[in-house]
Amino acid sequence: MVRDIADFLYWIALGLMVVIVLLGFWVLRLKQHVGERERQLAAAREQLVRTQKLRALGEMLSGLAHAFNDVFTPILGRAQLLGGRVTDPQLKHWITIIERSAMEGAKTARRMQEFTRHRGPHRSVPLNLNTLVSESVDATRPRRGESIELVRELGQVKNVSGDPLALREALENLVNNAIEAMPDGGTLTVATSMDGGEAVVTVTDTGDGMTPEIQRKIFDPFFTTKENASGLGLSTAEAIVQRHGGQIEVESVPDKGSAFRVRLPLAGSAPRAQKLSGVPRPRAGAAARCLVVEDEANVRDMIKDVLTIGGHQVTLAVDGSDAADMFKTETFDIVITDLAMPRLDGLQLARIVKNLRPHTPVLLLTGWGVTLTVDELEEHGVDAVLAKPLRMDEIFAAVASLVPGPTKPEEKA
Ligand SMILES: Nc1ncnc2c1ncn2[C@@H]1O[C@H](COP(=O)(O)OP(=O)(O)O)[C@@H](O)[C@H]1O
Ligand SMILES: [Mg+2]
Repeated sequence: MVRDIADFLYWIALGLMVVIVLLGFWVLRLKQHVGERERQLAAAREQLVRTQKLRALGEMLSGLAHAFNDVFTPILGRAQLLGGRVTDPQLKHWITIIERSAMEGAKTARRMQEFTRHRGPHRSVPLNLNTLVSESVDATRPRRGESIELVRELGQVKNVSGDPLALREALENLVNNAIEAMPDGGTLTVATSMDGGEAVVTVTDTGDGMTPEIQRKIFDPFFTTKENASGLGLSTAEAIVQRHGGQIEVESVPDKGSAFRVRLPLAGSAPRAQKLSGVPRPRAGAAARCLVVEDEANVRDMIKDVLTIGGHQVTLAVDGSDAADMFKTETFDIVITDLAMPRLDGLQLARIVKNLRPHTPVLLLTGWGVTLTVDELEEHGVDAVLAKPLRMDEIFAAVASLVPGPTKPEEKA
């Protein structure tokens, strides 16, 4: 009887031990699982914070860029006007410096804007990648110096489609980085090729290279390992390339060098953007009756002076609804309007203009923070877009192209 009880207890104890061991295993696995999940959560949280930070930064910069643009536009415009009047070479030189500085400032504003990934109504035209690469390399020649050997390996590439200025800027940023990575000289190779359905540009240097830790951060805005550098080159380049439906890949070995590969989709069927895009071809323009709509007084007056000098008649409106009222009673050959305005914006105005008189062209002036597609612009009746800060010759060219002048006999055919 006692033995039976002892046996019984023995089996119970054994059973319990097995259960405890199994439980132990189970708890261990559970812990591993929880640990794994916690790590994933932390990573996701980090990513979210980063995204939020970038977005906040982007919005702030977008606002700043816009404000800067309105500052640089009149400086640039006035400097160009002055440049046309002044004959003293010394004064002319000073004015050129003012103009160039304003242009540089505007470019910086644009860079700030780029990585906010806002889609501007950017030009989209078929582009020969080899030409684009050559131009980008040529633009950086002064920085290259004697000690850097340039190798071009330009292959047969099909056209891509996009904004030539923006893409050139992206490529220039890559080339500049390559040059900066080779302070003691080396070889800079630019190559183009086709890979599957994509066109590829590779910028390779034999410079400093990057550690994996650095590589992880290089596309972050403001990340830099250089003194007096903006850290915006790659984030800008990436934003531009992504906006074109492409991507940038990096390979790098410390002390050996780096290769940046830009992949871009090929140009599809001819984009409709062309009609809207960029600066229209200048034609011998006639004096046009222009309605200029702009809420920023400095910019408004600048445009007026520029157009007046170009022999045009100018009527000013301080915002969209002011302009709409004028347009109902007066006839104009062209409406030149800012986009962002209180009460009635440029797009709404364009629609009113087209409803009242469908043949009156509308030229839209935008800053860079604009999120309009070509379709939206066409739908509202916008005929052309110019980005601020405006250049005098661009304004003339746009007006000349949009306002049909007295056609010369040979043009009639
Ligand atoms: N070709 C390269 N070789 C080595 N490091 C590079 C290269 N390109 C970029 N980098 C690294 O990425 C960082 C960010 O580049 P970028 O965004 O162009 O900013 P910046 O050139 O103003 O520093 C650089 O500071 C550098 O550390
Ligand atoms: Mg750079």
